[in-house]
Amino acid sequence: MDINKTKKGTASVWAGELGTFYEGATTPPIVNSVTYGYHDLDEWHEVALGKKEGYIYSRNTNPTVEVFEEKVRILEHAEASIAFSTGMAAISNTLFALLAPGERVVSIKDTYGGTSRIFLEFLPNINVNVTLVETGNHEEMEKEIAKGCKLVYLETPTNPTLKVLDLKRLVKVAKKVNAIVVVDNTFATPINQNPILLGADIVVHSATKFLCGHSDAMGGVACGNKELIKKIYQYREINGASLHPMSAYMIARGMKTLELRVQRQNESAMTIAKFLKLHPKVEDVFYPGLPTHKGHEFAKEQMSGFGGMVSFSLKGSYDNVKKFLPQLKLVHLAASLGSVSSLAGPPRTTSHVELTEAQRAELGIPESLIRYSVGIENVEDLINDLRQALESLK
Ligand SMILES: Cc1ncc(COP(=O)(O)O)c(C=O)c1O
Repeated sequence: MDINKTKKGTASVWAGELGTFYEGATTPPIVNSVTYGYHDLDEWHEVALGKKEGYIYSRNTNPTVEVFEEKVRILEHAEASIAFSTGMAAISNTLFALLAPGERVVSIKDTYGGTSRIFLEFLPNINVNVTLVETGNHEEMEKEIAKGCKLVYLETPTNPTLKVLDLKRLVKVAKKVNAIVVVDNTFATPINQNPILLGADIVVHSATKFLCGHSDAMGGVACGNKELIKKIYQYREINGASLHPMSAYMIARGMKTLELRVQRQNESAMTIAKFLKLHPKVEDVFYPGLPTHKGHEFAKEQMSGFGGMVSFSLKGSYDNVKKFLPQLKLVHLAASLGSVSSLAGPPRTTSHVELTEAQRAELGIPESLIRYSVGIENVEDLINDLRQALESLK
């Protein structure tokens, strides 16, 4: 069986698990061992030099972590993949491994808050030239990329207003100037979108979200061609942001149901978006699956599902958000996303807490916006819950 040719639901279960494990175990053992022993010094030497397969030290490679890496590699159609302790570790290691002082990176204004800080603070500190373009202004983005850059960093759909970028269009310009294209695919998941098939060089994920799917382990991953992933691996080897085997096991276990969960979340999010769109207490709904959404056409083109994230703003001020959210019974009011249980919060207290009201407005984030991560609960129950909370508003 060639795992590369299986469908996503099969690959999620079997990738990295087709061989036999210790003593015939049918689930991957959690190999907590930090170090690996050798009786044959020549063999040890060969493995240490990377000339022979094997393990030396778990900061570098670990059998349980490799199961997770292999699942992502297959699902994202990549040649190689490498795991990290968190999504931010995957993103920062990728950027710092591939960029050097004097080089230029082009990205968008709406990247995840942590990524945005790398662009606004840490890369400029080492004299990397950063240009951030208005998200969704493809003409401006094309112009900036065409001026020449080492790397183009994209995220689609974005957090929290779910703006969609036309990946094929931006990849085309990036290729002309030999720029490396990196895409954060966390919101879409490999079930709904495969940027590498659209020409991207590297895909990064916060595995803490949909890949894990249960909000009980943190992790990150970068995948792409062998040469680039090797560079990132060499950086991580020394940076040390490796994934713990226990977390790798939890995420790989969660990934077995990735397709089932994401399909359900796609369907429920669409139903919820339509419900909210018609509700008189709701000002606006941001969901790429709605034909009224600005990026709907690109989303239809490059995604096979529109994802489990819905954002919506309430009529009135932030006071209404303060009244509305605590009325919801079937959501955690918390940060993060992508879990089996629904979760909601305003960008004001979560992803964009460090920005001022004016800065949020500049990014098109209304103060009354709520980001709702749809879980796998029954959608009728979720809608009833939303309805009663909306009705509680005067
Ligand atoms: C799109 C996106 N990328 C990256 C991250 C960072 O991931 P982590 O919290 O696992 O470091 C997040 C976290 O919310 C995110 O939403």
